[in-house]
Amino acid sequence: MKPFIACLMLTSPDGSLHPSRWTKSPDGDRSDFSKICDKVREELRGQAWMVGRVTMAEMAKGVPHAPEGPHNIKRPAHFANRNAKSFGIAIDRSGAVHYKGPDLFGDHIIALLGHDVPDSYLAELAADGVSYVIAETADFDVRTLLDVVNKELGIERIVLEGGAGTNGALLAAGLVDEINFIVAPALEGRSGTDSVVEFGPDGLTGKVELSLIDCQSLGHGMVNLRYAATGPRTERQ
Ligand SMILES: NC(=O)c1ccc[n+]([C@@H]2O[C@H](COP(=O)([O-])OP(=O)(O)OC[C@H]3O[C@@H](n4cnc5c(N)ncnc54)[C@H](OP(=O)(O)O)[C@@H]3O)[C@@H](O)[C@H]2O)c1
Repeated sequence: MKPFIACLMLTSPDGSLHPSRWTKSPDGDRSDFSKICDKVREELRGQAWMVGRVTMAEMAKGVPHAPEGPHNIKRPAHFANRNAKSFGIAIDRSGAVHYKGPDLFGDHIIALLGHDVPDSYLAELAADGVSYVIAETADFDVRTLLDVVNKELGIERIVLEGGAGTNGALLAAGLVDEINFIVAPALEGRSGTDSVVEFGPDGLTGKVELSLIDCQSLGHGMVNLRYAATGPRTERQ
């Protein structure tokens, strides 16, 4: 079963992905904004948060440190800690993220990996105590990998936290059930900057539809624009 996926993104009204570039506000600062995001994250009751390769690499901050071979590798999955209370999931097709241990922010790490990741990388993850699930075919189907995570670890609710490329890819694949845009009272306004959702030159037209669930004032000038996400109606009929 696919876990329920709620996307949570802090953004400005002009859709900016980068709080460090925003204008100031008398209503609050970046620490207020991030505390409010933390509160909404708790309310979403995810058993795991999930991010793309770029965002996970920024947080994990590790360097390559594969152990010497020969390697005794488990495929297609390895669960280093089934009893963790919460998890952090990385979508990392090529095995590019390096970790410093089994957890981040107290949450046990699970890497979703592509079919061709080398044994030396899997040995590094296992030595770090990181769990992983490998795609069994060359196409990298995140839904199938999340089915495994659900079946093996009982994860039923995931909070998807970007970045833009990951949000776009998962929305296009019909994997996202709900979006929470936490809109802060700030603007970026740069030309050519990153927005919170990105899906190539054609975008998401015809791939997803949003319907407003709620618009909640959160304090410090922030609102949560909460939408249900579904596939296009023609496909549902
Ligand atoms: N404002 C906020 O709340 C917020 C939240 C999170 C992140 N951020 C910022 O966002 C920036 C990163 O965003 P980003 O869009 O560049 O990167 P990203 O979404 O973090 O990572 C994108 C990568 O993830 C992998 N990936 C994700 N979904 C996939 C799929 N369905 N199939 C295959 N691969 C998939 C791909 O890796 P490969 O290229 O290796 O295949 C892709 O290039 C960072 O600067 C970060 O600080 C902001």
